[in-house]
Amino acid sequence: MELLKQKIRDEGIVLGEQVLKVDSFLNHQIDPKLMFAIGEHLAALFAAAGVTKVLTIESSGIAPAVMAAMKLDVPLIFARKRKSLTLQDDLYTHKVYSFTKQEESEVSVARKFVQADDVFLVIDDFLANGEAALGMARIVEQAGAKVAGIGIVIEKSFQPGRKRLIELGYRVESLARIASLSNGQVAFVE
Ligand code: G4P
Ligand code: NA
Ligand code: NA
Repeated sequence: MELLKQKIRDEGIVLGEQVLKVDSFLNHQIDPKLMFAIGEHLAALFAAAGVTKVLTIESSGIAPAVMAAMKLDVPLIFARKRKSLTLQDDLYTHKVYSFTKQEESEVSVARKFVQADDVFLVIDDFLANGEAALGMARIVEQAGAKVAGIGIVIEKSFQPGRKRLIELGYRVESLARIASLSNGQVAFVE
């Protein structure tokens, strides 16, 4: 998605070799028109997939996901994240380990929002190791529902998330794919 790539070139800040800061349009300040365009792109990619609900994870997935859900005319559910959890049987939960933050958290979704006949589009802002996306997919499957695919705003293709998800059989669509952040430069996958 060229508009997104240009925004990353113009405003992205490369931190070391691994992290791209995009807090001027995605992770802190949000660019609503860009989010709208992102939502339209993701919705178009999955238009024929029979999606009945969109699932993302708080907080930064919500802005792009709500736009995609609006375009697909389906509800958006955002998974909640917390450090530890007393067992609650009205929730589906899955443990997610963040390599970036070096901490384990639990992702949860209320059972009442996931039905066995639902088809979910899973959306997230970043794909790094794939833990968050996989956690969401596993929650959908716990409920006996289907994952149509995983839509990502920015994929760090030099990290293992994409390969991992594809090997598990998921369809992965990323709007911007970053091959490298070496030498302070963003290089996109051709
Ligand atoms: P994974 O899900 O793909 O395994 O990723 P990981 O655990 O490494 O990511 C942990 C958090 O860091 C996530 O946000 C993720 O979106 C974010 N993240 C990972 N790599 C980058 C990056 O290069 N740049 C930016 N800006 N974020 C990155 P989170 O903790 O869930 O926070 P939020 O959704 O509330 O923003
Ligand atoms: Na994030
Ligand atoms: Na996220």
